[in-house]
Amino acid sequence: DTSPIKQDNDKTAKLEAFVADDRGEKLTTNHGVKINDDQNSLKAGDRGATLLEDFILREKITHFDHERIPERVVHARGSGAHGVFKVYEDMSDITRAAFLCDPGQETPVFVRFSTVAGSRGSTDLARDVRGFAVKFYTQEGNFDLVGNNMPVFFIQDAVKFPDLVHAVKPEPDNEIPQAASAHDTFWDFISFMPESAHMIMWLMSDRAIPRSYRMMEGFGVHTFRLVNASGVSSFVKFHWKPLQGVHSVAWDEAQNISGKDPDFHRRDLWDAIEAGAFPEWELGVQIVAEEDEFKFGFDLLDPTKIIPEELVPVQRIGKMTLNRNPDNFFAETEQVAFHVGHVVPGIDFTNDPLLQGRLFSYTDTQLIRLGGPNFHEIPINRPVVPIHNNQRDGYMRQTINRGKTSYGPNGIATNDPRQAKAAEGGFVSYNERIDAKKIRARSRSFFDHFSQARLFFNSQSEAEKNHLIDAFSFELGKVKMVDIRTRMLGLLNHVDKGLAAAVAYSLGLHVPTIPLAELNGSIPADADPADYTPEQ
Ligand code: HEM
Repeated sequence: DTSPIKQDNDKTAKLEAFVADDRGEKLTTNHGVKINDDQNSLKAGDRGATLLEDFILREKITHFDHERIPERVVHARGSGAHGVFKVYEDMSDITRAAFLCDPGQETPVFVRFSTVAGSRGSTDLARDVRGFAVKFYTQEGNFDLVGNNMPVFFIQDAVKFPDLVHAVKPEPDNEIPQAASAHDTFWDFISFMPESAHMIMWLMSDRAIPRSYRMMEGFGVHTFRLVNASGVSSFVKFHWKPLQGVHSVAWDEAQNISGKDPDFHRRDLWDAIEAGAFPEWELGVQIVAEEDEFKFGFDLLDPTKIIPEELVPVQRIGKMTLNRNPDNFFAETEQVAFHVGHVVPGIDFTNDPLLQGRLFSYTDTQLIRLGGPNFHEIPINRPVVPIHNNQRDGYMRQTINRGKTSYGPNGIATNDPRQAKAAEGGFVSYNERIDAKKIRARSRSFFDHFSQARLFFNSQSEAEKNHLIDAFSFELGKVKMVDIRTRMLGLLNHVDKGLAAAVAYSLGLHVPTIPLAELNGSIPADADPADYTPEQ
């Protein structure tokens, strides 16, 4: 019987093997020698200098000296939880991913929620995007859905990500402000980045100050692919719908809470799970058939666009329940390494240029953050299935690989790991047809930056619209350079004239007129068209 349900998928039990049990034990050094005094260092006489031979002192202080690792370059502030996921019905008509095909299968997950801009100790209730990263420990390896609580992003191409993050992080001369977008460098960058118009509307909305991590939606943002066993691919947008509902706080509340309890969201998640009030989300998918790729007025590969639910409804296909707090923040929440490139057979990428850059970035940053090429061996990152390959050695290697050979093809070892055909569960990349010239530009289908920003504004209630006006007025009010404020008003005017006028009134400024042609596609007026004309 090869039913995957019979396999050992208990991630909690696997972690248990690494849990230290110090109860009732004697203190020891890291080398197992019992310690009879760890409160007095070894000295030459009771008033003399400390001796270099004091291995107990040296070990204790050396380990302490090396306790810190770099915080994440973005999403440094976060909270994690364990849970489970179950699909409602067999989805094998659209994907061969086994964990989405067997309603009897319970897949363990680890989730990390985060803010983006602030450092590890910053307040939970900053106006910011929230990360919503889920690691599914499936029977076919780990699948990470590394999403946010907003369905779109600031930029259309990963090459701009370092600029975006340098602009939003505290300013480099004085490291101010902590965890806030209300400052000159952020709005300066945004004012030159019309493609961020849609995301900025979300960021200034109540979605950026959630009531609780338990009450946020999650989004995979990019269009991904699902591929079935016959190799047929569909496009998919992933959603998480919280069964607790979507709730936010008001800006005044957010500021009060930040002052009184910067751990507000962390505490709320922890306490709910401790109390047995397990938060739940349904996994939603919007499916678009391959042949419908071009039927929308926007490009499915453009991460600044949603697929409106009126056009393609969200089907709820399964449920995630968070039911266990981590045992140790550092070992689990800090050392977990999510990567948008961790996919399993049946899930694949599209050519979204933001996604493509992310596929490089995560492992690259984790190589330094987690100290070398073996961070997949850290307990929280291990899949529930065994690892078999010819990768060897490197800093902090834990695995003891037996035998003479570590290469393939191999005629010496008789039972070395061999490649798996698709029918045996091997990952086969979707064989998308590509016939194009190399070009350093973006597609004209990415050029409309304002239609969906306007759609979002119009979707808001009167109260929510007023919150948006207040948020823009507050944030731009913190910007010192008038040029930046004015450029932003010019952008907002293309989203909604009433919005721009109301913010301008608060700021005591006039709304400038910037021709749409200068903003959509952000082609400079004096540009050589040859540089900006990609293949049609
Ligand atoms: C971290 C989401 C775009 C680079 C994260 C995390 C999330 C996330 C949720 C936190 C993971 C955790 O909890 O450990 C997103 C989303 C994006 C996006 C939804 C756009 C749709 C990008 C881009 C890049 C990037 C374009 C780079 C080109 C990083 C890096 C980290 C990170 C370097 C830190 C990872 C670590 O240290 O473990 N991202 N991100 N992200 N993201 Fe992104």
